[in-house]
Amino acid sequence: MRETVILGTPLSSSATKVMLLGSGELGKEVVIALQRLGVEVIAVDRYENAPGHQVAHRAYTIDMTDAAALKAVVEKEKPHLIVPEIEALNTDALADIEQAGLSKVIPTVKAVQLTMNREGIRRLAAETLKLPTSPYAFARSEAELAASIDAGIGYPCYIKPTMSSSGKGQSRITQASEIKAAWEHAATGGRVNLGVVIVEGQIDFDFEITLLTVRAKNSDGDIQTYFCEPIGHRQEKGDYVESWQPQAMTASALKAAQDVAKTVTDALGGLGLFGVELFVKGDQVWFSEVSPRPHDTGMVTMCSQRLNEFELHARAILGLPVDVVLNKPGASAVIYGGVDGGSLTYTGLEAALSVPDSDVRLFGKPVSFMRRRMGVALASGDSTDEARARAKMVANAVKPKADNA
Ligand SMILES: Nc1ncnc2c1ncn2[C@@H]1O[C@H](COP(=O)(O)OP(=O)(O)O)[C@@H](O)[C@H]1O
Ligand SMILES: [Mg+2]
Repeated sequence: MRETVILGTPLSSSATKVMLLGSGELGKEVVIALQRLGVEVIAVDRYENAPGHQVAHRAYTIDMTDAAALKAVVEKEKPHLIVPEIEALNTDALADIEQAGLSKVIPTVKAVQLTMNREGIRRLAAETLKLPTSPYAFARSEAELAASIDAGIGYPCYIKPTMSSSGKGQSRITQASEIKAAWEHAATGGRVNLGVVIVEGQIDFDFEITLLTVRAKNSDGDIQTYFCEPIGHRQEKGDYVESWQPQAMTASALKAAQDVAKTVTDALGGLGLFGVELFVKGDQVWFSEVSPRPHDTGMVTMCSQRLNEFELHARAILGLPVDVVLNKPGASAVIYGGVDGGSLTYTGLEAALSVPDSDVRLFGKPVSFMRRRMGVALASGDSTDEARARAKMVANAVKPKADNA
């Protein structure tokens, strides 16, 4: 057994310090997992009182696309590790920070750079790694978009800003008359408007999965790849509404999925957990995208696995061994704000938590809007069907209300 990991005492000279860049609901759980290992955690987000801010040792509110602001907070805090939780970061600043030996970016600067932009990761996956993907093209104008659809992408197709997540700015169109609106939606709906969209032909899948893939050190100190059981999920308008684990699939589809996940995570490198999104039809598998960090659909692991995806990420990035075992079939269902406003109150929790094998997370976001994810319902069961039915009952029972409503 090699012993190289040293963890310190928070708020002392020996502290092991980790900085989260992005501190939403996923970051909050990573912070909690790190806190449990006695790590000193610094949470950074673009708005005050973000979920992760509320559980960290210190919190900062900055524009993380601003190189100077990002460098200033890193220079002040001197974290050992920087853990990006979102894509909208100044990745050039991260590269400079690492180059200067100030900190180490998880999993790697290259992974963060490639996955922040759909063009980077798609070209890597399809063109360099030769993985199966949907047919795709990049367009820099409405005319280019129309031309690439005519040239072979066809209908139905998906149009997405190259920099966006959670379905923002995304459209599915079935005819030429919808191109203009899709272009405009993508051009204004992206996070950082690059004026570039990806258009993808539709994959007619049976189901889609997230394969949580962990690059962690084994007891010999070598990096090994571990796969969680596949997570099935359902998306509405490009945003996840429910997920479950395990998703049943054929042995050869699972093998193909793991091969794709291994290839892409090997190329991104470093230590940590990745969410590899794949489309599956029979034995066939297509790569869709990958997050070099915990994945929203992976919140189900908070009730299904012995170590949830956040604990796995925390362990992996610290160089500690992981265990990806599934305890019990589980499911998650999103709790939306359903209202616009602040200082929300939540009722219905007695009914929600009377559902057998259930749990709930309320993220504590200061402001709600209709489709904002404010919490998640969790439930396990003897089967994923039972777990899904329970998780939906839990989600439906929780009633958010705004003080101005
Ligand atoms: N080419 C495609 N074929 C079929 N479904 C797709 C395709 N692209 C996107 N989708 C659907 O839209 C969802 C969101 O797309 P995705 O590329 O994952 O965007 P985001 O980065 O916003 O999560 C997918 O999970 C899938 O349900
Ligand atoms: Mg996705």
